[in-house]
Amino acid sequence: SENAHLSVVVVGASGDLAKKKTFPSLFNLFGLGLLPKDFTIVGFARSKMSDEEFRKNISKNFKEFKDKQEEFLSRCFYHSGQYDSEQSFSEVAKILKEKEGGNSANRMFYLAIPPSIFAEVATAAKSVAVSENGWNRIIVEKPFGKDTESSAQLSRDLATGFSEEQTYRIDHYLGKEMVQNLLVIRFANSLWEPVWNRHYIANITITFKEDIGTEGRGGYFDEYGIIRDVMQNHLTQMLALVAMETPNSLSAEDVRDEKVKVVSACRPISPEDIVVGQYDGYLDEDEKVAKDSITPTFATAVVHIDNPRWAGVPFVLKCGKGLNERKAEIRVQFKSNPGIYAEDSERNELVFRVQPNEAVYYKVNTKRPGLSEEIAMSELDLTYKERYEVRLPDAYERLIYDVVRGDHNLFVREDELDAAWKIFTPILHKLDAEKVKPISYKFGSRGPEESDKLIHRYGFQRSKSYQWGPKSKI
Ligand code: BG6
Repeated sequence: SENAHLSVVVVGASGDLAKKKTFPSLFNLFGLGLLPKDFTIVGFARSKMSDEEFRKNISKNFKEFKDKQEEFLSRCFYHSGQYDSEQSFSEVAKILKEKEGGNSANRMFYLAIPPSIFAEVATAAKSVAVSENGWNRIIVEKPFGKDTESSAQLSRDLATGFSEEQTYRIDHYLGKEMVQNLLVIRFANSLWEPVWNRHYIANITITFKEDIGTEGRGGYFDEYGIIRDVMQNHLTQMLALVAMETPNSLSAEDVRDEKVKVVSACRPISPEDIVVGQYDGYLDEDEKVAKDSITPTFATAVVHIDNPRWAGVPFVLKCGKGLNERKAEIRVQFKSNPGIYAEDSERNELVFRVQPNEAVYYKVNTKRPGLSEEIAMSELDLTYKERYEVRLPDAYERLIYDVVRGDHNLFVREDELDAAWKIFTPILHKLDAEKVKPISYKFGSRGPEESDKLIHRYGFQRSKSYQWGPKSKI
């Protein structure tokens, strides 16, 4: 119920994810007044630490709401133990019971740990640490396996402790402001839906670029690579929201039903439709990276959706680390205009700028102002920081808030995860089996040229002169 005590157990409390995202987000939610009045947070991990050290540790990443920090930290505790030990989890439960003081309590288990130990943690938590007079929910995060089969195994493992209804699989891109805006822009405006199909749209490109390398995560990354790290999850989730049919309602199950449907209609990537790359210097960056690693740090793949809306429209997924800039965006490129301006106009595009500098802009051909008769590409531009004066929450704040509220909308359902894996599993197996060497590209560049060639082969037209950004007057 509304007034129940909220107990949060963060398993893997000393790890990177917990320190950078989980605790700061919980704190910000507290700062915003969005946590229940009574709550307790217990950090759990193997290393030994006092409550005081723990508090000092997690508060290093707290940036806002300074005046509320003390109060928040006074409700944070630490317990060290073994992940596979029922004994350890019953010690955690004892702490919770005491803090809950016999009131009805809801418990949330946040697994900020590698998936290889999901099963044992879920089992131990389930047998000795769940609430008996409130709800129990578990939050997990990728990597959800390495392919269709290992992902299914992981789901079965988790299911031994928690039902699908109790499980919240994070894909943190779904928590981003602009990603949530996709449905609103598409379905709350009469302009787009009629043209949102193969008759008007030439291609759609979903891009994720980072200008950094693996930043201390070389060991993890080398085992997974960019396709499993970003494309199978973040990019595919964005594709689902861009391409899905209108859901029957905004309920989590209706929305996720439509996502599953469109993702299941995606053809598995064929070998001619993918380019993989690796930036130079990757092999020497981290000692945990194999010296002869063929793990891709860059990939461009073309996805075909076999349904009437999208037949013949290529969806280009492009992602990489060690590139020339940091940005994530979705670019809907419309077909060329026939007629009197065919020669001089360029293609219209609707761009969802996910980050940084959130915006939605539509590129339009306009008459160059003044006595000139030339055409210039300009834009209708909703740049958030110019239009809104509002704090944009971190993706994890939104997501953890939704778990507390029991809203599954922004979490990945098991069948959705399975459908997403099926697009990539065959090509991943082929790349692995044939030991395909990625094309080398310069760190800080746009990635391998072969990627541009692939995209152009599918009809993408790059604008000749247009550049979005801080407005320089024409
Ligand atoms: C994570 C990937 O899921 O997303 C990282 O594992 C990547 O490799 C990160 O850097 C990007 O997230 P964001 O929110 O910084 O775009």
